[in-house]
Amino acid sequence: MTEPTRATAAGPNGSATWLGLDGARVLVLGAGGIGAECVRGYLGAGAVVTAVDRDPDRLDALPSGLDGTPPHTITADLTEPDTGPAVVRKAVETMGGLDVLLHCIGVNDRRPVLEFTEADWERVLRTNLFTAFGAAREAGRHMIGAGRGRIVFLSSVSGHLAHRKHGPYAASKGGMNQLMRVMAAEWACHGVTVNAVAPGYVETPLTAAYLAQPGVHDELVRQVPAGRLGTAAEVVGPILFLSSPHAAFMTGHIMYVDGGRTLV
Ligand SMILES: NC(=O)c1ccc[n+]([C@@H]2O[C@H](COP(=O)([O-])OP(=O)(O)OC[C@H]3O[C@@H](n4cnc5c(N)ncnc54)[C@H](O)[C@@H]3O)[C@@H](O)[C@H]2O)c1
Repeated sequence: MTEPTRATAAGPNGSATWLGLDGARVLVLGAGGIGAECVRGYLGAGAVVTAVDRDPDRLDALPSGLDGTPPHTITADLTEPDTGPAVVRKAVETMGGLDVLLHCIGVNDRRPVLEFTEADWERVLRTNLFTAFGAAREAGRHMIGAGRGRIVFLSSVSGHLAHRKHGPYAASKGGMNQLMRVMAAEWACHGVTVNAVAPGYVETPLTAAYLAQPGVHDELVRQVPAGRLGTAAEVVGPILFLSSPHAAFMTGHIMYVDGGRTLV
């Protein structure tokens, strides 16, 4: 068995249909390191995908499906009021419905709490948590009407562990975990599941500059029982699973994908 270096939806028999995502209509918010790899995974599973990012270059760089079909894309800054709900409505219109929402947007700012201003706090919380609320509320409204749906948030080990220099980021992920749990409790009776995937450190544009600082990579690796950092591709499988019919009776979970980081 080898670890994935690229997202693949192929099952034990080489087929992607085992996942049950063939034809699923998926909205991915955030086309960065993890979001782009998830787009690849969803397309590989036969899903129809709409991807949203504020950076059009990230959208242009997204992979196409196995048959060469590119994802639908929307350039939008989801921190703008009402933009999250608007992109959900647009995706529903474009794809003829919405089966899966993946929220994959985040920023970090690593400083001691005493160095943060209220404006810094607002920027991180607005990007990480406000964008999740507006889009997921609108997606939930649509999915409740349809009687089924899957919502997955990208949380973090920082939502659980008290990492120094992570004040606003950790608060945003802790808040996201609880928003997820309340949505899960309110919407379970409507066939809508809401879960979170919480990675440890993964090398993406979000973390590249930090991991490149002298000594940082090795110090972080020392904290992971698996003895290494993860890859974006390794986060995709758990996300596809939570997006699929196989996870129909799982809701309100935080699935850690961290090589054991939260064990120690
Ligand atoms: N990379 C990691 O080590 C790691 C670990 C734990 C959790 N996460 C979480 O996973 C998610 C994805 O992280 P990533 O590593 O792919 O980050 P990334 O920086 O590679 O991608 C994030 C994407 O979000 C987009 N974005 C940011 N603000 C936006 C806005 N206001 N509107 C629209 N798009 C916006 C960016 O343009 C970027 O393409 C985040 O929620 C992050 O907190 C990442």
